[in-house]
Amino acid sequence: MSSEEATIQQEQLDLKKPPEPEPEPAGPTSVLPADGGVQPSAAAAAVAADDVAPPSAEETTFRALVLTGHGGYDKIKVQVKTQVKVPLGDGDVLVRVKACGLNFAELMGRQGLYDALASPPVTMGMECSGVIEAVGGDVADRTVGDRVMVLSSSGLWQELAVVPADQTFLMPDAMSFQEGAALPVNYITAHMMLFEMANLRPGKSVLVHMAAGGVGIAATQLCQTVPGVTVFGTASASKHQVILDGGLSHAIDYRTKDYVEEIRNISPKGLDIVLDPLGGSDTQKGFNLLKPMGTIVVFGAANCVTGQKKNLLAMAKTWYNQLSIGTMKLMQANKSVSGFHLGYLTDLALIRHTMDTLMDLYVQGKIKPRIDSTYHFEEVADAMRRMHERQNVGKVILLPELKEEEEKKEEEEKEEKEQEDEEKEKEEKEQEKLAEAKPEEVKADQG
Ligand SMILES: NC(=O)c1ccc[n+]([C@@H]2O[C@H](COP(=O)([O-])OP(=O)(O)OC[C@H]3O[C@@H](n4cnc5c(N)ncnc54)[C@H](OP(=O)(O)O)[C@@H]3O)[C@@H](O)[C@H]2O)c1
Repeated sequence: MSSEEATIQQEQLDLKKPPEPEPEPAGPTSVLPADGGVQPSAAAAAVAADDVAPPSAEETTFRALVLTGHGGYDKIKVQVKTQVKVPLGDGDVLVRVKACGLNFAELMGRQGLYDALASPPVTMGMECSGVIEAVGGDVADRTVGDRVMVLSSSGLWQELAVVPADQTFLMPDAMSFQEGAALPVNYITAHMMLFEMANLRPGKSVLVHMAAGGVGIAATQLCQTVPGVTVFGTASASKHQVILDGGLSHAIDYRTKDYVEEIRNISPKGLDIVLDPLGGSDTQKGFNLLKPMGTIVVFGAANCVTGQKKNLLAMAKTWYNQLSIGTMKLMQANKSVSGFHLGYLTDLALIRHTMDTLMDLYVQGKIKPRIDSTYHFEEVADAMRRMHERQNVGKVILLPELKEEEEKKEEEEKEEKEQEDEEKEKEEKEQEKLAEAKPEEVKADQG
């Protein structure tokens, strides 16, 4: 078995289905099975290589972003995979991926700090949007041509992906593919923390760290769906105007100011809810900031990450300073501490219910992912650098389409538009000429 085949078998979804029967031999309606975290219906048929011969009629090739080892940006490579076409498994759909979301967890995964990602080589990607190209047996509610968002533990940063249909979510007509790729992880996380765990209600106060990031913007928008909620947010100073315009009540530059002091100045009694993606000493600070009956939700350890490469000192510091509290003390404090990790949440019914709620909010115009920037697969290092260097305001998107292809398409569209405009102009001029002409000339012309 090749190492890639082994990978394909390792990359199982958290949301597992019962084992599937052996696939039928490839027939006329056959499609390829994708690897990478998504259901490998006939994974053993797959082969991947950097240099591949042209595919035969029974094969398909597609590009994927593969983590080849833990470390810096160079560890993620665009690989061309060749797979033998076989029929889709029951319950699966084949998705032509149009856009993918980049998450902070993927920066950590590249460094080897994210347990929910299988060991390299592994195809990365927890969310994408695209179009269904084929449907397996036992799939009643998806058809070819459906525009969908997809959620998985990994394996979605590739041009083609086979996924269980129940991990796809129909996109509203008005939603772009980039928005579709930006929504699932950030908004499900923010929604579940605020409404399932912290029971957000009118008049409450919330602290959102990384307020200009993907989850931060989602949380701020969701807070605004409840009347009278005050949202404090920490972010780099250059991003404050955008997040204040987006509905944040108070923006704090954590790089130059003590955010605890700033919050106490505005709200001396403290806060009702703290969302903590940082870990270490910030969890302790967040806990202390809570009012009685308040809740802190711990959902990340960004303090472990200081740059491109793994930083053992930062990891040790974060671990050493983490909040440690006995249950008796917790009881006396009248506070709650909870943890959230979407990668370990296997309740698909709850996820689907949350996505339904989010789609209603999207259609009503109450939530809208903010796209920071887009990068092509071959620019994945630049995309990750943008996040590491704390430059993004909103979501960073990866596009499977080759940069040249996109430029060519844009050029063609431009030419088409110019031609249309020219024809329209010509037509308008002719109409004007006709209108200016004397009635008898017109009659003569027509005669
Ligand atoms: N548990 C879960 O299920 C779950 C799901 C999704 C995300 N998360 C967590 O939520 C957090 C946000 O994730 P995201 O994907 O939305 O990313 P993001 O917020 O877009 O991340 C990038 C931004 O975070 C801020 N930041 C703070 N500390 C940083 C650091 N050490 N390195 C780089 N940037 C840092 C920077 O902005 P400023 O300088 O402006 O603050 C940066 O622009 C992460 O901790 C992530 O692990 C958890």
